[in-house]
Amino acid sequence: MSERITIKSAHQHEAMKRAGELTGRTLNYIGTLVRAGVTTKELDEAAEEFIRSHGGVPSFLNYEGYPASICTSVNEQIVHGIPSKKVVLREGDIISVDCGAIIDGFHGDAARTFFVGEVSEEVRRLVRVTEECFFLGFEQAQPGNHIADISRVIQQHAEENGYGVVRELVGHGIGSNMHEAPEVPNYLNRRFGRGTKLVPGMAIAVEPMITLGERYISVWDDGWTCVTADGKPAAHYENTIFITENGPELLTLVKDEPADDEDRAYAEQHSGEE
Ligand code: MF3
Ligand code: CO
Repeated sequence: MSERITIKSAHQHEAMKRAGELTGRTLNYIGTLVRAGVTTKELDEAAEEFIRSHGGVPSFLNYEGYPASICTSVNEQIVHGIPSKKVVLREGDIISVDCGAIIDGFHGDAARTFFVGEVSEEVRRLVRVTEECFFLGFEQAQPGNHIADISRVIQQHAEENGYGVVRELVGHGIGSNMHEAPEVPNYLNRRFGRGTKLVPGMAIAVEPMITLGERYISVWDDGWTCVTADGKPAAHYENTIFITENGPELLTLVKDEPADDEDRAYAEQHSGEE
């Protein structure tokens, strides 16, 4: 974590938009591959290939020794699940995919929780509320507001719905490093106060990690995989947000457009690979 809060120039803002768009498009693409029978390793390989073939570099690969280009966290895994040939998705699972790409030295960072086929209503609701938590936080990312304004609405919405808010992991500033100051917790604590004041040119990754049961976590012996202590499902949803004079901008959420010629050529070239 870089301790500095960085304010990006207009030129750097443009690079962050490109990195963010590629990160969002990669997640959209991975979403189309999620189904029963696919391994998380296949998703990782597809993500790496997609990022590189679109002019980016996967930022997670080798980050503090992390061995893959995405994190794939299934069911009770909260975040940082490591893709594996041995993890085969099954009908009814949820899978959180966290992805980062670098373009021109700047980072995008985002995560989605996808459904594998039909998922129980209880778990679909968890995923929906987690996304709602993000968007409530996003609306608070106005210049002049403080980090705690984001934390407050996320915690309130999750807890009102009876869910747990993970505390051991938090959102973060982002720029030419994936993790920069300030931290963006998904809960309030008197220790944090109001936190950093948001000003135009800042970029932050807001990433609620919400549990169906208790909020407590444990970490597997692999040193990465964070799971709920009670074994109940968790959801994760994240986007990179740029603070502008006119309010917050979503850099990593890309609408699925009808495929253009380039997309069709890409799909053609990669069909039958997974
Ligand atoms: N993207 C994660 C985050 O939101 C970090 C992934 S850690 C890595 O902060 F090691 F997998 F890269
Ligand atoms: Co992040």
